[in-house]
Amino acid sequence: FEIPPVNNEPMRNYEAKSADRAGLQAAVDAMMAKGTFEVPCIINGREVRTGRKSKQVNPSDHAKALCEYHEADEALIGEAIKGALEAKTAWEHMPWNDRAAIFLKAADLLAGKYRYEVMAATMLGQGKNVWQAEIDAAAEACDFLRFGIKYAEQLYSIQPPKNSPNVWNRVEYRPLEGFVLAVSPFNFTAIGLNIPCAPAMVGNVVVWKPSPMATYSNYLVYKILEEAGLPAGVIQFCPGPPEPIVATAINHREFASLHFTGSTFVFRNLWKQISNNLDKYRGYPRIVGETGGKNFHLVHKSANVESAVHQTIRAAFEYQGQKCSALSRLYVPKSMWNAKGGFKELLQKHVGEISLGPVNEFQHFMGPVIARHSYDKIMGLIDAGKKAGGQIITGGVGDDSKGFFVQPTVIETTDPGSVTMVNEIFGPVLTVYAYDDDKFEETCHLIDSTTEYSLTGAIFSTDRAALIKASNLLRNASGMMYYNDKCTGAVVGQQPFGGARASGTNDRAGSMALLLRFTSARTIKESF
Ligand code: SER
Repeated sequence: FEIPPVNNEPMRNYEAKSADRAGLQAAVDAMMAKGTFEVPCIINGREVRTGRKSKQVNPSDHAKALCEYHEADEALIGEAIKGALEAKTAWEHMPWNDRAAIFLKAADLLAGKYRYEVMAATMLGQGKNVWQAEIDAAAEACDFLRFGIKYAEQLYSIQPPKNSPNVWNRVEYRPLEGFVLAVSPFNFTAIGLNIPCAPAMVGNVVVWKPSPMATYSNYLVYKILEEAGLPAGVIQFCPGPPEPIVATAINHREFASLHFTGSTFVFRNLWKQISNNLDKYRGYPRIVGETGGKNFHLVHKSANVESAVHQTIRAAFEYQGQKCSALSRLYVPKSMWNAKGGFKELLQKHVGEISLGPVNEFQHFMGPVIARHSYDKIMGLIDAGKKAGGQIITGGVGDDSKGFFVQPTVIETTDPGSVTMVNEIFGPVLTVYAYDDDKFEETCHLIDSTTEYSLTGAIFSTDRAALIKASNLLRNASGMMYYNDKCTGAVVGQQPFGGARASGTNDRAGSMALLLRFTSARTIKESF
């Protein structure tokens, strides 16, 4: 059976008085009224309450906890690995159509029956406003499932193009031998879902450690997969702190792969530990990771200013700058920056008008940052930027009395290597360097050499020659390059996402290439 063509999940707009708005509002209100949910670990399809509990706090109102979750411990992870390995044979030999149907059904459940609930959990737990929750927990999550299945089907059909007489050659795309460790981040419910699901689609069994700051939405995602028919043990839901979950998994002989999205620092540490363990393993683990970014917009003197300002604001401040793809350094020609009614004035005006507040109030463009440690880090970097001579153009102030709110902040610097130009901030802070108009090419070299990252970037220019010149000079400076568009918002099935250098292994979320990493091929030659 062939899987029919798949499409991106249509976006809904949640306008006031619409049925979608009423449904989502009701889900948000109910979740707020209910108070603290209890989230178990789920091992072999069984709910396990370990009794060691932690809270996932509502970042818009940190006195409130969205959920209390039971933390997995070393013994439970041992059980999870054992159970996953026992579930493996049946899972990998399940007819492909039956396996595919589970993920396609999960997408439909998420798009319909559970859309508002998973969005509400993403809003209240991860601090996303309604629109950001829609593009993540509804649209992108469904897209990862549906396109993932389509890519897997295409992957299975790749076969050697030639047979000699009386011979049939074929390639079997087996899952990896052992289990996959999935470690997912807080900032996208969709990534939370894709990190365990991509390996599982191609027949792997997975031990999944969700982010503590996304536990509740990720638990709902697990329950949807279960309702869609995912067999017990195929994905083991193991919330809790990195130790002992990750350590137990990467010390195990059957550890086959790490599928990770998170910080560069943590990923490098894990890779080092895995390297030290190589002799313990059955095979060479597949290490797949998406990590940090320090993403740029480069504006050419020919650019349309209004459009570049608009895209800059969206890229830097949507979801409080907490996307790995978020914009955090901006390069503008001096004349355009300083002109009356120019870039600086427009940016200052429009950023100053951004509304910031609790996400359950629906009308705000920005909500809180995720947690106390993020708030402190962001405020610390804003201070360091000021001390290093940066001028605050707008923002620069935080308020953590109720939620973790940081005003959208623009810093102008004359030092392209300053502290906020170089370090990943993961918050609503944009640093601007105005370059000499005749130094466009030098600025490209500067962008390329300023940071260790290479995730996303954009060039704004109506002069095609300048665009192509910059694109060539910046060829290795980002894994995602946008011309006259913001550097965030890659759509599954349309712009496969990834970065190189310190930004990751560039295995492309939402692509066949990613799935290939979780398979181990076997070639069969049969002579007749
Ligand atoms: N895919 C997201 C974006 O492009 C980031 O993970 O913004």
